[in-house]
This record gives sequence, structure tokens and C-alpha cells, in this order.
Amino acid sequence: MEAWYIDSSKEDQRLPHHLDPPQYVTNEELARLGVLHWVLDADAYESDPELKQIRKERGYDYEDILQVSPEKLENYETKIKNFYEEHIHTDEEIRYCLDGSGYFDVRDSKDKWIRVWVKKGDLIILPAGCYHRFTLDQSNHIKVMRLFVGSPVWIPYNRPQDDHPIRKDYIDHFLSKELSGN
Ligand code: LAC
Ligand code: NI
Repeated sequence: MEAWYIDSSKEDQRLPHHLDPPQYVTNEELARLGVLHWVLDADAYESDPELKQIRKERGYDYEDILQVSPEKLENYETKIKNFYEEHIHTDEEIRYCLDGSGYFDVRDSKDKWIRVWVKKGDLIILPAGCYHRFTLDQSNHIKVMRLFVGSPVWIPYNRPQDDHPIRKDYIDHFLSKELSGN
């Protein structure tokens, strides 16, 4: 899964926004922020034993499928705008890309944006309390399976949420170690 630091230009959010020269981020660095990733066979999602195993281990008993494109998503403009507002959730955000592609932006320990390019076959988990946002890329279409433990809560808490207990937990578990350099 490719990931990189982005510039702060206000140009079209669907562009890659690489730094010059590009500065890539490894999956290991993402894992230290709690961002996890698997590559699965998206064409076999209905019967894939690997997906079944992940769901079982992590307790993901809910699923639905969402298509994000001007044609497939109701209230497209509003939703696209909301997805790109920096926010957290009180639970993990789990997305399995079945088709198309898009960018999940996450903040690193120094509050810089990392752009994570999610494509067909990528399953990504953003931990609860991790500031993030989503945008389509220039392909303008993504089809994702959303997974959840129990009945889903999709509420975004837009930044600032620095006093939110879930945000504090996230900092304790992930960022404090990064910041102290241990
Ligand atoms: C969500 C993504 C877009 O909250 O961050 O659904
Ligand atoms: Ni979100």
C-alpha cells in the first residue's frame, strides 16, 4: 500500500499532492500509528477464508457495501465534503476496497498528513481516535465494504476533539510513544 506525505496546496483534493521530491511512508510506520493493512483477493470476497479469519479474530460481525461516485452515492456533494473534514470516530474505521481507489489521509505523530492510497484488494483499519479524512482520487470511484463490531456508528467528530476520551486513549496508546522516541 503506497503512502506519502502531502503538500498543503489547496488544489484539487483528488490529486496525489506529493512533496517534491516525494516522501514515502512505509506500512511499518503506518502500523506504529495503529493503521493496519491487509491485501486480499477482492474478487473472492464473498467466500474468502482470509477475510473470514480477520472478521472472526477482530469480531467484525457487521458488513455493508458502499459505492462512492457521483452516480452511485446519494447526496454525493455533501458527503464528499464531509468525508474530507478532518475527524475521528469512537470505533475503528474498517474499509475493504472491492473496486476503484481513494485516499485515506491520516495524521502522523507530528500532526503531518500522510496520504494512504487504497486500491482494489486493500483492507485498511484506522484506529478509534485517529484524525483522518477521505477523498476520491482522480478515478472518481471507490466501492468499499464497511465492517464493524456490533451495530455500526458512523458519527464523525470533527477536529478539534483533543479532550475526547477516545482521542486521549489513542494518544496514550500510539502517539505518546512516537513522541518520546521509544
Ligand atoms: C468515513 C470516512 C470517509 O468516516 O472517513 O466514512
Ligand atoms: Ni471517518
